[in-house]
Amino acid sequence: MTGLFITLEGPEGAGKSTNREYLAEHLRRAGLDVLLTREPGGTPLAERIRELLLAPSAEAMAADTELLLVFAARAQHLAEVIRPALARGTIVLCDRFTDATYAYQGGGRGLSVERIASLEQFVQGSLRPDLTLVFDLPVEVGLSRAAARGRLDRFEQEGQAFFEAVRQAYLARAKAEPKRYRLVDAGQSLAQVQQSLDGLLPEILERCRG
Ligand code: TMP
Repeated sequence: MTGLFITLEGPEGAGKSTNREYLAEHLRRAGLDVLLTREPGGTPLAERIRELLLAPSAEAMAADTELLLVFAARAQHLAEVIRPALARGTIVLCDRFTDATYAYQGGGRGLSVERIASLEQFVQGSLRPDLTLVFDLPVEVGLSRAAARGRLDRFEQEGQAFFEAVRQAYLARAKAEPKRYRLVDAGQSLAQVQQSLDGLLPEILERCRG
């Protein structure tokens, strides 16, 4: 028995946290065993790496350092949480995964797709998400929602151009592989977003039941 690996992606302020709870609750109500987790993080050690990645610091972090830290956290998360859960037949609902690396380190920081792809292969082997929901919204909306939440982390301090590149990278990946990605318009009201998720649930449930 193998589980299903579902990832949630999108910029800051897209409502991923609220919606991952909503999805998890629906899947659990349908009798499925669901594990909610997030990246960077998901284990105590990976959460410590998350702190390094998100904390604003006087010393600028080199883009390659950022990339390696993201994959170091991912290697730990895969070994300790994701792979064992999938092996038990659990549905793993993960808030961000390697698509975020392509979007932020690739699109945002300008690192090459080849460099990211080689680390993806090294750390994950053939493991890829079965389904990825991309919460898409205009950059200004995401930035103002993030600003309204208070103190900004190291990524949230980036400007409009960075987040425009992040958004375009997500959209390009979704377009290139429509079987794996579903776009959700996160610019709508929460009720409308959840209505869109309700529309996706039959397909998700069908995939979960394999
Ligand atoms: P969040 O999960 O609270 O949105 O914050 C995590 C931040 O880390 C977010 O700004 C995106 C960033 N990130 C990357 O830059 N690369 C990655 O691979 C992942 C998983 C996250």
